[in-house]
Amino acid sequence: MKSIVVSAPGKLILLGEHSVVYDRPCLVTAVGQRMRVKVELSNEAEFQLEAPDVQVVGYKKSISELGKGEVPKGAKFVEFAVKNFAEKYPFKQGLKIETTSEFSSKLGFGSSSASTVCVIKALSELMNLKLSSKEIFDLAYKTVLDIQGKGSGFDVAAAVYGGTLYFVTGGKVIEPLQVDSLPMVVGYSGVKADTVTLINQVKERMLKEPEVIENIYNQITLLVEEAKKQLLKKDWQKFGDLMNKDQVCLRQLGVSTDKLDAMTNGAVQAGAYGAKLSGAGGGDCMIAFAPLEKREEVAKNIEKAGGEVINIETNVEGVREEK
Ligand code: MEV
Repeated sequence: MKSIVVSAPGKLILLGEHSVVYDRPCLVTAVGQRMRVKVELSNEAEFQLEAPDVQVVGYKKSISELGKGEVPKGAKFVEFAVKNFAEKYPFKQGLKIETTSEFSSKLGFGSSSASTVCVIKALSELMNLKLSSKEIFDLAYKTVLDIQGKGSGFDVAAAVYGGTLYFVTGGKVIEPLQVDSLPMVVGYSGVKADTVTLINQVKERMLKEPEVIENIYNQITLLVEEAKKQLLKKDWQKFGDLMNKDQVCLRQLGVSTDKLDAMTNGAVQAGAYGAKLSGAGGGDCMIAFAPLEKREEVAKNIEKAGGEVINIETNVEGVREEK
């Protein structure tokens, strides 16, 4: 029966994490490591999933049971993506889905959002619906919110649109920015962070000290707006200064860690334009922007601080069919 292979990129947030959850902007770039999903139609009204990267093997259930009962963690995003799609665009066939990832889910590159986007794009093509990027974004973002309850959707936008984006909460603004690749070095802290736990941690503080958090978010917003301008001018020195200031804000928010601080400080000492954590904090990755001739030194210092340097391409293409 008919089948399709679709892939979508992972992401790294450049500036604006946390405040972007609260009606504010961020900058995000799509990274070269991709999630790949094969979807095959079948005659039995059954949903089958193989996602060995997240320990889901031989998982099956009837299409009418989607989203019901115990759903293994690794199957959630794919299963709820199919459920939401089928509720909006009902179909009779069964589905065999296989997912593979070029990056580990531990890095915080957004594997869940990328697989959600792949499934919706694949079903849209298989059912000849040709959904627009915004329609794919809306359905994928709804799926992420159904599961996580929280999140700005910037990772979903990066998977759909690719490139480098200026993004406002929930997709109120999704603006592709004309840049080539970014002079970025990425370091993994070795610690897997849980985004929802960190969002909740900041929210609790917001209840106790609303003015403090509001003030930090206002500062981050100014940094994001200025960074957008510098990104378009490719003024990496100014962009780096803004990254450093954002890192100070994130430390004040309480989401950085000693390890992330050591990695970012090490990068700046080695001559990076700027460095900061990228994502929810508490672990995952940090990013540095650095001149070509300083990259090696920057990478060495990130490793000295206990980080693992991950080679990535930036500003890559969004969700696409693989022929
Ligand atoms: C997590 O990668 C970034 C946060 O801003 C959450 C989100 O925007 O969904 C903390």
